[in-house]
Amino acid sequence: MIKARMKFDRDFRIGAVDDRLYGSFIEHLGRQVYGGVYEPGHPSADDMGFRTDVMDLVRKLGPTIIRYPGGNFVSAYNWEDGVGPVADRPKRLDVVWDVVETNEFGTNEFCEWTRRVGAQPMMAVNMGTRGLDAARSIVEYCNHPSGSYWSDLRISHGYKDPHNIKVWCLGNEMDGHHQMGHKPADQYGIVARESGKLMKMVDPSIELTISGSAYWGMPSFPDWNITILEQAYEQIDMISIHTYLQKPVEGTAEYMARPLLMDSFISTVVSICDVVKAKHRSRKPLYISLDEWNVWWREREPEKNVRSFHTTPQPYLEEVYSFEDAVVVGLMIITLLKHADRVKIACFSELVNTIACITTRTGGPVWPQATYYPLMLASKYGRGVALNTLIDSPVYESKDLGPVTLLDGIAILDDEHDALTIFAVNRSQEDDLALECDLRGVGDYKVDEQWLLAHEDWDASNTEARPDNVVPRRAAAASIDDGKLTAVLPKLSYSVLRMKKSRE
Ligand code: AHR
Repeated sequence: MIKARMKFDRDFRIGAVDDRLYGSFIEHLGRQVYGGVYEPGHPSADDMGFRTDVMDLVRKLGPTIIRYPGGNFVSAYNWEDGVGPVADRPKRLDVVWDVVETNEFGTNEFCEWTRRVGAQPMMAVNMGTRGLDAARSIVEYCNHPSGSYWSDLRISHGYKDPHNIKVWCLGNEMDGHHQMGHKPADQYGIVARESGKLMKMVDPSIELTISGSAYWGMPSFPDWNITILEQAYEQIDMISIHTYLQKPVEGTAEYMARPLLMDSFISTVVSICDVVKAKHRSRKPLYISLDEWNVWWREREPEKNVRSFHTTPQPYLEEVYSFEDAVVVGLMIITLLKHADRVKIACFSELVNTIACITTRTGGPVWPQATYYPLMLASKYGRGVALNTLIDSPVYESKDLGPVTLLDGIAILDDEHDALTIFAVNRSQEDDLALECDLRGVGDYKVDEQWLLAHEDWDASNTEARPDNVVPRRAAAASIDDGKLTAVLPKLSYSVLRMKKSRE
């Protein structure tokens, strides 16, 4: 058994955890929309064709904000195609994902769906094939109460009340040649600034994210971010970045270290924001929207076939996630929480079927993937204030990333509910870990619940035949004595320790 400690104090705070850290993402891609959230012929479909079995699982997952309609898809999308009477909506070639888009599901359906699952919508606008005008019209359509062309059109489509979408993304991954309408940084920066200006004139209450470097490996990183922020700093509120981690050929130990890449990516982007803030002599801090993040290493994007467009949704990128992936997702959530002062939105990418935490069979059942559970536990218990949590742990040497602590974790203080929660991962593949934590700097707590995600087969996954092969179970290996918490974290596992204030 190895030993490690966590140290924190209620006065040493990273920052309040924005509820929007527990967001997700739905894109018109593969079977996410058609056969995923929307399937009118399905036995569980409701009055709008939404699968209620999927909605039930989404509600349990607890995403707070959901990004839509892409992703790469948005950069060639005409939002007007997806509103109004369904019979009149045009079928279009989706040149991004090589399929015929029927537009049966569009902006209003999405907003209604988010309402029904209890999340807020987050909308991306097309900065690829379109620009300023389409961007300001969709804000007017969605958010203006009435008395103008676009708002009255929405009302005529059956939506009297505005959708009040608060967060808008100015395009998606505009730094990449893979993106429709990709442009150089200075050109995109100007289009984003001017679009943002117009959009905020229509609705000053909205928040805007600008498309930063898609990930740290992009050839133009970090210059892209510097250039676009220099153009648009004052008009925007957040910079959007994405992270997909892969399991390297070296195996599990290196895989468990990979979240450190996300950690340094966030820190670098924060530094860039602060440099541009200084250059602008601005008082306004800029925040980060990590609006696509996940692990993704098995399924590759399909080869482009410009001569033939599929007429039905294809099962694209339907990665089946393992227990080991779920532990890495747990580590990524811990990483996000460590940056709670600057990361205000994070969207797990994606929600249903495509690199997703929920899988459906079209016409059949729905089940949660292994990665569903760390997300669910974090959304449920990870609200409050992230405490600066020092980790005192044995380390191992990663080939690429240097020393890595066997223990990783963070404490979240929730005074509103008299609760304190620790999220912790034991990265060791050989040894259980005896965790010690002095709670006297936080208060008098007792253990309320303990959840453990562990499995003897690290490749184990959930399937239609075995939907609950990888599930967290309640554990009872933690206790508090004289203000000292002790717990055993089994080898390669993810734990949630929930404590409540003692009443004695
Ligand atoms: O999530 C799939 C794709 O990955 C998204 O469309 C794009 O933004 C990212 O590169």
